[in-house]
Amino acid sequence: MAVADPSESQRLSARVRAGTSADHDAAQGSGFLDALAAGRLPRDAYVDLAAQHWFIYSALESAAVPMSADPVAGPFVRPELARVPALAADLGHLAGPDFAERIVALPATVAYQTRLDEVAAHSAPAFVAHHYTRYLGDLSGGQYLGPAIARAYGLNGEGHRFFVFDGIRPPSFRARYREMLDDVAWSSADEDAFLSEVREAYRLNIAVLAELTERWTS
Ligand code: HEM
Repeated sequence: MAVADPSESQRLSARVRAGTSADHDAAQGSGFLDALAAGRLPRDAYVDLAAQHWFIYSALESAAVPMSADPVAGPFVRPELARVPALAADLGHLAGPDFAERIVALPATVAYQTRLDEVAAHSAPAFVAHHYTRYLGDLSGGQYLGPAIARAYGLNGEGHRFFVFDGIRPPSFRARYREMLDDVAWSSADEDAFLSEVREAYRLNIAVLAELTERWTS
């Protein structure tokens, strides 16, 4: 019988997961993503989500440029994670080649971008926090949501590339990602900064989902 490693619950990957499970439940509970997965909203609501993602990932992936030289944050930056090219292809298909001139960031999206520009681009713990919240989420629940949304809106190959990560096997990627988190040699102050920024990242995502819900269901 395998003996449980007593230090397992102390690992950063376990602490972030346990410490933010209520935040995750709140994000999941916002209902907007479930409503899209069930096809209960107009197709334009999905286009709006892709547009908000385009603004958010543009800021996150701009922050990744300076952070790729950081000894701690750098190894997390991987070209196959980049979502801006996938989102540009999705929006080009869904909203037309001139989508960038027509899409508008919600106020909560602007607040999210500002946080990424001002904090994640300058601090490794904050950058990894935002990186974790988005990409590990996309490679977890996003892997269920993507096919459901594609089915609901009749998207066959085009328009949902955001959810498809070429060159990544989600289960082994998630396992390796957790090992990388556990191997980071941070001070306890840096770990605290990371954990508190993950909670901030959830709050920012929940605010975007709340504004999308307000726009498309009221
Ligand atoms: C309908 C909405 C959602 C569903 C159904 C969902 C579902 C899931 C599931 C099933 C997992 C666990 C996968 C596993 O352990 O292998 C997971 C993990 C995760 N989700 Fe979500 N999720 C949703 C929304 C979100 C949102 C909005 C975010 C943040 C932007 C998010 C971020 C995460 C993260 C970071 C993890 C990894 C937690 C960890 O293992 O450390 N999720 N999600």
